[in-house]
Amino acid sequence: MKLASRMSQLGTETAFQVLARAKALQAQGKSIVNLGIGAPDFRTPDNIVEAGCKALRDGYHFYTPAKGLPELRAAVADDVKKYRGVEVDPDCVMIVPGGKPTMFFAIQIFSEPGCEILYPNPGFPIYESVIKFMGATPVPIELREENGFSFSADEVLARITPNTRLLIVNTPANPTGGVVPREELDKLVEGLERHPHVVVLSDEIYARMTYDGLEHASLLAYESIRDRLILLDGWSKTYSMTGWRLGYGIWPKQLIAHAERLQINSNSCASAPVQVAGIEALRGPQDAVDRMMAAFDERRKVIVDGLNEIPGFSCVMPRGAFYAFPNVTGTGIRSKELEERLLNDVGVAILSGTSFGRFGEGYLRFSYAASTEDIREALRRVRECLQPA
Ligand SMILES: Cc1ncc(COP(=O)(O)O)c(C=O)c1O
Repeated sequence: MKLASRMSQLGTETAFQVLARAKALQAQGKSIVNLGIGAPDFRTPDNIVEAGCKALRDGYHFYTPAKGLPELRAAVADDVKKYRGVEVDPDCVMIVPGGKPTMFFAIQIFSEPGCEILYPNPGFPIYESVIKFMGATPVPIELREENGFSFSADEVLARITPNTRLLIVNTPANPTGGVVPREELDKLVEGLERHPHVVVLSDEIYARMTYDGLEHASLLAYESIRDRLILLDGWSKTYSMTGWRLGYGIWPKQLIAHAERLQINSNSCASAPVQVAGIEALRGPQDAVDRMMAAFDERRKVIVDGLNEIPGFSCVMPRGAFYAFPNVTGTGIRSKELEERLLNDVGVAILSGTSFGRFGEGYLRFSYAASTEDIREALRRVRECLQPA
């Protein structure tokens, strides 16, 4: 058997491995507190579940158009108008199975040997993995704690070369919970006007998940780059629908046909009944989202306060998503070793910052998509693990 050499370039999302290990340990009877996975722990709201079940009973079991059901694409356009204040043409919306396909397609469209793609580091690991897999050169943009894990627009712009094809931005961010301030986006867009060859993929899957009244600033709102901006969003996080697999991309007019062709060559379309459930999610009551965010906010404070009490840890307050990203350099232990020790010695599943790129060394990612009791128990176990013998 001779595999394509690019297979050796494909990375992974360690969260799935840690989850598998945590489940295996649980199956052996070990008590595990799982703060490793990036999925809200709430049930999908009942009205959405019911809409999906009804769709199956009503006969939604065929292929849909590759770009998705027209009613759902219209609902997405209305949602974008409501939450981002931007008019988009439903014809430029493509529904996909989850957030990842938009990312995969965008990177595929622009990658070939010799071209460069800028992406956040620490950041969602799939960016770097797919860039390498497609034979392009990944150019990391370091996100620093002292900048609240935002980037500096000047630094991003300085890394653009004639070979740069795509810039990936993620705000609010995984794994840091960082949010890029509006002023920094203004500066970035102003600079991008001097680089018309650079397309932007804005991963805004955590757009509805901000705290302290902070309003999400969307790159879609900038008219001057609209014709080269791909927006990624989806239902996984906002509506606690990770396992349903539903997301969307908003594509510039000149790219949508390419994206559609990639969809036809891979998924055909997103699942029909799931798309109907997606309409209910967007058009139905939003109070479940508000309740979930209120719970995340409470847990955010519990976890950050608790992490800051652990000797050797210091944690900035995340402003979005549901991750805390403490600096653990004060422990003198490398991130990966801490990940292993916490899982094996005291049964706490979290992720090493290095799962999100090399600039994640010195950090751990705690997902606070878990009950407050679980969070308190995890904090107690971390303290126990780090106690001097
Ligand atoms: C930044 C970011 N983008 C995209 C995704 C992918 O979302 P989905 O599970 O809907 O494919 C995730 C999931 O964790 C994420 O954190």
